[in-house]
Amino acid sequence: MTRRPLVAGNWKMNGLRASLNEIEAMGAAYDEALRARAELIVCPPATLIALARDIAARGGLGLGGQDCHAAPGGAHTGDISAEMLRDAGASYVIVGHSERRSDHGETDADVEAKAAAALRAGLTPIICVGETRAEREAGEALSVVGAQIEGSLPADAPSHVVVAYEPVWAIGTGLTPTADDVAEMHAFARARIEARLGRGGSEQVRILYGGSVKPSNARELLSVANVDGALVGGASLAAKEFIGVARAYC
Ligand code: 13P
Repeated sequence: MTRRPLVAGNWKMNGLRASLNEIEAMGAAYDEALRARAELIVCPPATLIALARDIAARGGLGLGGQDCHAAPGGAHTGDISAEMLRDAGASYVIVGHSERRSDHGETDADVEAKAAAALRAGLTPIICVGETRAEREAGEALSVVGAQIEGSLPADAPSHVVVAYEPVWAIGTGLTPTADDVAEMHAFARARIEARLGRGGSEQVRILYGGSVKPSNARELLSVANVDGALVGGASLAAKEFIGVARAYC
């Protein structure tokens, strides 16, 4: 089973119109050799998606949102639906990022509903899971992530959904788990995805690693078994670094 690697940039709450230059530069650097080896997408703030649409398309890059509401529309001031993201030019949406779970109190049930909304709208959800430092230190990392997968992945999800393992303590800290810890978690995650979706589907699900991925550690992290790509935060803001991460596949 070959899974096409996916390198996704999560810009979080960063980026103004001037940052579209970085998406242009990413497209220019996304050459044939790299295209043959990995899919690249950028998830800028929602304000930039429609503006980035043509630039990304010219460069062969995909676009994603960073969150969506579970409903297709209605009286939900400040929220954005999966249908709106799709209309603006997105083909992916991140759901259940730990910053959404902690800043907005999102539960596994909320994340499952958002993932289902993404699928309804024709978007591919990138469903995020990951333990806190206290949970890892207490020896609970596997059980926490297992429960998050069980609760956040729609039971009828198709195999093109993406799961991202992002240990909370590795996000924006420069810390990363060891390759052995990543291997253990990703193998465990695949088994839990299989239990949730049934045999057959889970072999095709891409499981990304996220948390302090940068050009200097990408090759080691992305070569671990069952790691099918990266969800990159800080290092995705500049084209040079983001492409440097993706080049781990060349
Ligand atoms: P950093 O790459 O900045 O650690 O962020 C990871 C992340 O949260 C991506 O979603």
